[in-house]
Amino acid sequence: MTDILIDTAGGVTTLTLNRVAKKNSLTAAMYARLADAFTQAQTDSAVRVVVLQGHETVFSAGNDIADFLKNPPTSPDVPVFRFLRAISVFTKPVVAAVCGPAVGIGTTLLFHCDLVYAGDNAAFSMPFVNLGVCPEAASSLLAPQRMGYGRAAEALLLGDPFLAEAALEMGLISRIVPPAEASALAQRQAQRLAAKPLTSLLEAKRLMKQGQAVLVAQRMAEEAVIFGRMLGEPAAREAFTAFMEKRQPDFVAL
Ligand code: COA
Repeated sequence: MTDILIDTAGGVTTLTLNRVAKKNSLTAAMYARLADAFTQAQTDSAVRVVVLQGHETVFSAGNDIADFLKNPPTSPDVPVFRFLRAISVFTKPVVAAVCGPAVGIGTTLLFHCDLVYAGDNAAFSMPFVNLGVCPEAASSLLAPQRMGYGRAAEALLLGDPFLAEAALEMGLISRIVPPAEASALAQRQAQRLAAKPLTSLLEAKRLMKQGQAVLVAQRMAEEAVIFGRMLGEPAAREAFTAFMEKRQPDFVAL
């Protein structure tokens, strides 16, 4: 499948979202490939670091809404939740390059990356409420922690986007660069990481995350159940149908 490009060289596996015509929105097949790639990278001793990137103009428009309508993720074992579990428990460093829109899971997956290099055109958003669903990827836990409750409420309840400067200030990203440089910087930093002692990297990452690991897994599981249920409810159906019909949703009667 060419929607996700996978390349391994010099201890670094690079995963590229490659569905630009659809703004790198993610289908079940793409999530399955990403989940399998992280699982494989976890056990492959030739892989020390993973880089995740999109395109200079767009990181990801989040879930492919048409695919979601066709194959709603109503069980915890579906590819999207398999991918989220795989990236959240991945023990090796993950470096991301993010340019342009990063919508929904395009933003929330970044809570599970270690180094994030953003183009100055990056725009982050978590419009779950606007879509009649609820936060995922443990973002209901991690966004208030990282952003403070007030800004998390604007992002998660209003669905307001935020730009690279705000993302940098809250520690979601590591640095802002011109879009044309984000991918190359991610590669350089990944190569620096790949040259370090792996056991030290693994222990350092584990120690930084261990206070949260159980809470993150629990929250992610709880969100997945609620998200799956809400997808079948009228608000989500209206929001998703409106997107497909290129009109504003009408929640007044719901
Ligand atoms: N699911 C399915 N298709 C999507 C998509 C998504 N999440 N996001 C974009 N697309 C498709 C559009 O339908 C359009 O397809 P078409 O050319 O066949 O009409 C194509 O990608 C280009 O999108 P468009 O909206 O014209 O691009 P844009 O540059 O004006 O805007 C975004 C880019 C990302 C801001 C905008 O597409 C958007 O808001 N997408 C929806 C994001 C979303 O709500 N995601 C769900 C999160 S759970």
